Amino acid sequence: MDKIRIKGGHPISGTIAISGAKNAALPLMAASLLAQGKTVLNLIPHLADIDSMILLFKDLGVDVERLNDQRLVIDCGHIRSYKADYDLVRKMRASILVLGPLVARFGQACVSLPGGCAIGARPVDLHIKGLQALGANIEIKDGYIYATTPKRLIGTKVALPLVSVGATENIMMAACLAEGTTVIENAAREPEIVDLACFLQKMGAEISGAGTSTLTIKGVPSLKPCQYQVMTDRIEAGTYMIAALITGGTLTLTNAPAQTLEALMTTLRQAGADISIHQHNLTIKPSKTLTGVDVMTEPYPGFPTDLQAQFMALMTVANGASMITETIFENRFMHVPELARMGANITIHGSSALVRGVNKLSGAPVMATDLRASVSLVLAGLVAKGETIVNRIYHLDRGYENLVEKLNRCGAVIDRIKN
Ligand code: UD1
Repeated sequence: MDKIRIKGGHPISGTIAISGAKNAALPLMAASLLAQGKTVLNLIPHLADIDSMILLFKDLGVDVERLNDQRLVIDCGHIRSYKADYDLVRKMRASILVLGPLVARFGQACVSLPGGCAIGARPVDLHIKGLQALGANIEIKDGYIYATTPKRLIGTKVALPLVSVGATENIMMAACLAEGTTVIENAAREPEIVDLACFLQKMGAEISGAGTSTLTIKGVPSLKPCQYQVMTDRIEAGTYMIAALITGGTLTLTNAPAQTLEALMTTLRQAGADISIHQHNLTIKPSKTLTGVDVMTEPYPGFPTDLQAQFMALMTVANGASMITETIFENRFMHVPELARMGANITIHGSSALVRGVNKLSGAPVMATDLRASVSLVLAGLVAKGETIVNRIYHLDRGYENLVEKLNRCGAVIDRIKN
């Protein structure tokens, strides 16, 4: 299995172009199942999770072609299966997003239950309850969710008991083809939901309230395929902002979705960052000594759980202490023991981690069990004294396009060791 080797201590300075957002691209792909014909998605990143979705689509009988570096053509004209197999879903949980579109358009869908994952139990009960409310019959059998409906789904009110990005997306997509109006209360407000709603609108859906906690969807009999460019990746942008700050570099991010990064920018400014925005470019550099700041992860517009591990890596070398509280996932501190092996001083108290800044980290062999935890170890490696080897980097390949190349061009001494 490939590894990443980093020699720490080099500032990350220069320019990085932000890629298309994985967490927006995956639901857009799923939504393309709602229309007959060719959808063209632009700025689709080259990532293992996108490849997993392509594999799933091919299994369903969908024609998928990458036109050039960034365009993906999806032709949903000849679907021959409605089943997302266990082997595909266990590799990528977002496969659950095909459930709503398939049952809404074809009246049947069968998707493996994803099961737990490294960051917690992660149930899909809200996806299921939402689709049931829309009139789908759901049966759980042999580890699979079977959803059927003899006729169109029926619009209704769905009040989500907790904010879920995926459940909001699944219900919103299904409701587009339902008869009548659906209102989703306590909907997720993440920018990826807004991107999905814009795409669906371009396909002919009638949606209002995207970006607020109440979504109203007036069902239409059919949707048409269209061309659409996915938003850029706020989590990738946030990760590189932290890379600059942790190494004391000056970094400009092109096509950075700055308007979606308010919570991170506020926190990083408190920690000592100077951040400026010029049109689509964002520049970050240190303005004063890096200082400990407390954060709590929350649904958007709060501080994103997908940047918690990276922010913790930054806090390990800050002046003073930082209390980092995770409220979205119950088991999202797996990076802590690995950061500790590099010399970080972190104590976990329930869902909070107390990080006491140290003068320096030391390079070490490390590994992590999820995507964001893995990249937090890369960030720590960039500032650590000596050599860090990050193992199990298939996690990074799932979510960071050209990570090694992008960091290399900005002064990092980092390479990929092929095994
Ligand atoms: C999405 C993102 C992921 C991010 C997360 C939270 C994608 C592909 N993934 O994941 O990167 O970390 O949002 O911002 O976009 N829950 C339930 N029942 C459900 C669904 C969720 O209890 O049916 C719980 C989860 O276990 C979790 C919380 O709700 O504790 C939020 O999860 P959710 O927003 O659904 O995350 P995902 O959509 O899976």
